[in-house]
Amino acid sequence: MTSATLSISGSAPVTPIRQEIFGYFIEHFHRLIYGGIFEPGSPLSDERGFRLDVADALRELGTGVVRWPGGCFVSAYHWVDGVGPDRKPRFDKAWRVDEPNTFGTAEFIQWCELVGATPYLCTNAGTGTPEEMADWLEYCNSNGSGSWAQLRREHGNVDAFGVPYWSIGNENYGTWEIGAKSAEEWSRYVTESAKMMRRVDPSVHLLTAARADLDWTLPLLKSAGPYLDSVAIHGYWDPLWIDDSPIDYLTAVGRSMQPEQDIRAMRSIIRAAGYENEISIAFDEWNLRGWHHPPGGDDDAIAARDRNDRHETYTMADAVFSAGFLNGCLRNADVVSMANLAPLVNGRGPLFVDSTGIVKRTTYYLMQMYARLLGAEYVESTASSATLDCGDGVHIPAVDAVVTRRGDALVIALVNRHPDAILDCGISIDGVAVTGTAQRTTLTGDSTDAFNSPENPDRVVPTVSQEHMDDGKVTLPAHSITVLEIPQSVAPTVGDWIRGEGQQWREIEPTSSGAKPHVDWAF
Ligand code: AHR
Repeated sequence: MTSATLSISGSAPVTPIRQEIFGYFIEHFHRLIYGGIFEPGSPLSDERGFRLDVADALRELGTGVVRWPGGCFVSAYHWVDGVGPDRKPRFDKAWRVDEPNTFGTAEFIQWCELVGATPYLCTNAGTGTPEEMADWLEYCNSNGSGSWAQLRREHGNVDAFGVPYWSIGNENYGTWEIGAKSAEEWSRYVTESAKMMRRVDPSVHLLTAARADLDWTLPLLKSAGPYLDSVAIHGYWDPLWIDDSPIDYLTAVGRSMQPEQDIRAMRSIIRAAGYENEISIAFDEWNLRGWHHPPGGDDDAIAARDRNDRHETYTMADAVFSAGFLNGCLRNADVVSMANLAPLVNGRGPLFVDSTGIVKRTTYYLMQMYARLLGAEYVESTASSATLDCGDGVHIPAVDAVVTRRGDALVIALVNRHPDAILDCGISIDGVAVTGTAQRTTLTGDSTDAFNSPENPDRVVPTVSQEHMDDGKVTLPAHSITVLEIPQSVAPTVGDWIRGEGQQWREIEPTSSGAKPHVDWAF
């Protein structure tokens, strides 16, 4: 008797997975930009100021789509301050620090090209206007003769940037946000903004700030729905922004079902508004833990943001919760078109960066396993699992699994949430136990509180092995994530990323002769 079972039907429905689900968010906050991805003058940076060690790690990670410049920052940000040769420093009213504006639109676009990311711009719906949004869109995407397109050319960028993703506003429903609005004000504001942006570039994928709340989002969709492609929601399940004492492992993983509850609630609102299969959901900020930024603008409050760098607070709880979050998005791949881990670098991100180097956190490897190994199609399956008692009356499945397909192979993600029990999962296809040799990648730590640090950067890294399955049974270590790649005949090809020596990943390059490279999946 196994602790869990996973039953797959050969005729199960299959849903395409948008790779934007493995996306990220980066904001002008703390050392996410300055001292994170952008450090002019550092010996580790190129002549443009981009940290190359960071860029290498992000290319290996697979950054998908990256949302910028905020977040709360954006609600008082005027994009024109960050373009052209004469950058005006401004006081950042959101985070109460000076913004040099040396990293602006062109720098973000160039950095995205460097790391292989798709740019996603969030506009200022706080102090900004619909026209300011539309002008930014013209500046970025128009090859016409308008004054803003012309200004871009004068700034040295002749070709349009072609930014595909644009969002109207950030959390303008919250009293904490600069330019907060009522549901009625928001519906009108978004409608006029979206209308104007569509007239500049009707081809963009247009999102707007929403919440899984009927009173906010139903009127929004009734009014602006004809102009929108997605509604964007946010989620942080351990609010460190006030109380910087991280919840423990069991409490954290006990909240793993909550993101999917938000997705289901938002799906219902979209359906009630009459936009089922037309408007999708973007979880365009998510993280188990919120960023630490206690209220106030004095030096102590600003300095307290360095507590986001405490390595011991990035543990297997973050990785196991994040796997559950992504599994929830994959189970709803028909309506979730994007998800952005917040943030990408420093803050509570998967990559720690300081002036001397980088540390890949537990979530770096988790996100890489999902982005690089899972197939591009979600396969419905039936799972059962023993229950995990997380305390406070919270009981959730101990094992959480999703099935994807890559070519003719099945790639399965299996999460054992139990803090200390090794659990077995029996896997069958059309009622027959899976047999044969699979490729196995497992991420776990020597304890639930294991973390990586500059002193011990490889304490938590994935292990790769051959899994010989004779009765469909797979053993899952405690607090672990396993990706099982059941044999495939589809060899990797140019543009695929494969694992090389150690933890190094590399992209398959075209051969000099143009012949198709023959490469076995290196494990
Ligand atoms: O803690 C970061 C903030 O969290 C983002 O700026 C905002 O969008 C969210 O409230």
